[in-house]
Amino acid sequence: MATEISTDRAAHDLNAGFTLPASIYLDPDVFERERIQVFAGHWQYAGLLQNVEQPGDFFTYWSRDVPVLVVRDGDGQLRGYINVCRHRGSQLVLDERGSRKSIQCHYHAWTWNLDGTLRAAPGSQEQESFCKADFPLHPVRVETWGPFVFINLDSGALPLSYYLGELPQLVAQTGLRLDAIRSRLHREYEIKANWKIVVENYLECYHCPVAHPGFSDLIDVTDYHVEEYEYFSAQAAPVKKSAHRHQDDLYDFSRAEVESGFYAYIWPTFTVNIYPGPGNVSLNLIQPLDIDRTRMVYEFCFVDEVGTQESDDFIRFIHQVQLEDTALCESVQRGVRSGYWERGQLMLTRERGIRHFQRLYQRIMAGR
Ligand code: FES
Ligand SMILES: [Fe+2]
Repeated sequence: MATEISTDRAAHDLNAGFTLPASIYLDPDVFERERIQVFAGHWQYAGLLQNVEQPGDFFTYWSRDVPVLVVRDGDGQLRGYINVCRHRGSQLVLDERGSRKSIQCHYHAWTWNLDGTLRAAPGSQEQESFCKADFPLHPVRVETWGPFVFINLDSGALPLSYYLGELPQLVAQTGLRLDAIRSRLHREYEIKANWKIVVENYLECYHCPVAHPGFSDLIDVTDYHVEEYEYFSAQAAPVKKSAHRHQDDLYDFSRAEVESGFYAYIWPTFTVNIYPGPGNVSLNLIQPLDIDRTRMVYEFCFVDEVGTQESDDFIRFIHQVQLEDTALCESVQRGVRSGYWERGQLMLTRERGIRHFQRLYQRIMAGR
């Protein structure tokens, strides 16, 4: 039976603090519906502006199973395309990022200009009535916020700024110079769990004292706040008064450009994490690979003044937290799949961020 969450009853249950039912994480029909409802019509963080600074620079992105290409054209304009060849449908650009003068398919060498117009198709002069103008690349909308590039497959969607709402101001208030950050490391983790389990794990720190001893040593998890907005939520927690550089290999949380941690989840699969200490941001992109497999993409970004030793310490610290979170998410996936968990009850003073996500999910899956 198809999983139904668009009813008033389902919305009422979420308001009361019940979680989504187990089938939402397990039902292949739900996973398929998410492709359109959650991904196709919403802005998604796709990559960093620093990777497309010069004409010809490009990166590729997957919006679920739709390959997308973001490229800086010869006039300096940022453009997005469906990364599929108009000839016989091959994925067009295979590399994750790079620079090129034109966009040439690796199969039969149809070649597009960076502005998406077809430049050449070998043998086309022998093909009667062939018209290059009939085969431009399909455009995809692209917008930016600071150093972040977003794409949207829906040409009629409201602008990115509508979805971001107050977020840019809140990030500015942390003291971080967002436009000055650069990524020093791109790293990917694979988690054997449904993507929503990964998002939900991110959205509460109820588990922090139990499962993240290192994190809880430094961040005051008893002073943790969650604020809900329409398409994002933000968690904030100060650094512990007792936190200091008590080990040589520990990131210095007390040397503040940013004094308080700020962790934002942006619908559907992007998080921006600003830790206390010297200017840093770690980004997460949570990409569903399959119904029970998720890729967590990290970009570790810093302002130039942060030393290599310091950024290495920070990355090691986050890596440890991620390994702990991976184990938690995979254990939830096993439990949900067991058939012995139907749905749970949130602790709303600690897990409000999950309710915010689940209500948003329910509303969007219901097409509202
Ligand atoms: S499929 Fe791309 S050129 Fe043939
Ligand atoms: Fe965690």
